[in-house]
Amino acid sequence: MKSIQSNIKKAKKYLDKNHCVAVPSETVYGLAGNAYSDLAVKKIFKLKKRPMNNPLIVHYLDINKLREDCHINDTFMKLYNKFSPGPVTFILKLKKDSKISKFVTNNQKSLAIRFPKHILFRKLLKNLSYPLAAPSANISTRLSSVQHSDVIEEFGSKIKYVLNGGKCQIGVESTIINLLSKPTIVRFGGLDISKIEKVLKKKVLIRTNLKKKIAPGQFSLHYSPGIPLRINAKKPKKNEAFILTKKRKTTFRNYYYLSKKNDLHQSAKNLYSLLRKIKKDGYEMIAVEKIKNKGIGKTINDRLNRASKY
Ligand code: TXA
Ligand code: MG
Repeated sequence: MKSIQSNIKKAKKYLDKNHCVAVPSETVYGLAGNAYSDLAVKKIFKLKKRPMNNPLIVHYLDINKLREDCHINDTFMKLYNKFSPGPVTFILKLKKDSKISKFVTNNQKSLAIRFPKHILFRKLLKNLSYPLAAPSANISTRLSSVQHSDVIEEFGSKIKYVLNGGKCQIGVESTIINLLSKPTIVRFGGLDISKIEKVLKKKVLIRTNLKKKIAPGQFSLHYSPGIPLRINAKKPKKNEAFILTKKRKTTFRNYYYLSKKNDLHQSAKNLYSLLRKIKKDGYEMIAVEKIKNKGIGKTINDRLNRASKY
C-alpha cells in the first residue's frame, strides 16, 4: 500500500513537470502526459514517433472535469452510465474554451475521451489537476504494451518512469465510438459492440476501414509484430510458429496457445505478449488458426488482419 502511494507520487512528480510517464490501464499501457500542456503532448508524439495529425485519447477520472472540455449528449450519458469506467472511448465535440492542448486533436473540433478502470490509473488521476493524454505505449504501428517489460522494450530509458500495474486485464485497446452524429464504431476493442447496441436499443454503424481514415487505428499497417503473419491457417508451414486457441492432441515446439480452452477473453489478454514472445523465440513467420468472429473475437481478428498486411 505504501509503495503504491509513493509510486503514484513519483508519477505525479514527473507529470507535473511536463514529462511523459507510462501508466497501466485495463486495456493496454498508455504513454501519458498532461493533456493541457503543449510541451507534454509534443513529447508524447516525439517518443512514439507518431505523426502529429493522429489525435490522442484523453483520460478522465469521471464526468465532472470532462464537462469543462466537451459537449455532452444523451447517447453519451447512456453509454457512460453503463460502461464507464471501462474499455470504451467516446468521440465528442470539443468546447471552444476547453484547455486541451491543440496538439492533442491536431486542431480538430472533436476529442476522443475515456475513463480508465485500472485502479492505479484512477488513483493517479485523482491526484492530478489535469486529464491525461495517453496513446498506447508503443512506437507507432507496433504492438501495444500489456506489461511493464513491454514498455521498457519499446522505449528503454527514453521515458522517465513506468508505473507498474502488472499485466493488463483485457489486453487489447478500447472500443472507439464516434458520437458526433449517428453512433459509429471506428475501432473494435475491449467492449463488445452488441452490448453497446443493447443499451442504445439500436444497431450502430461500423466504419473501421474507411477510405478516408479518421482513426489511424483504421490503417492496415498497425499492431504489427514486425514479422509476416498469416491468418485462418489450418496448419503451419516449415519454420512457422503456429498460434492456436484450443488444445490439440499432439502439440509441437512451434505451437503457441492463446488459450487452451478456446476462451476468447483469455486469447485477447494473451495476444500481444504472445506475438512478442514468438518474435523473441526467433521465428520469422507466424501462422494463426481461425478464430471465432464473435464478441471480443472480432477485435482479435481485426488486429490479426491488420498485422497480416505487414
Ligand atoms: O485502450 C486504449 O484506447 C489505449 C489506452 C492507453 O487508453 N489507448 C490507445 O490510444 O489505444 P492510441 O492513440 O494508440 O489509439 C487511439 C486511436 C487512434 O487510432 C486515433 O487516431 C483515434 O484513436 N482518435 C483519437 N482522437 C480521435 C478523434 N478526435 N477522432 C477520431 N479518431 C480519434
Ligand atoms: Mg495505439
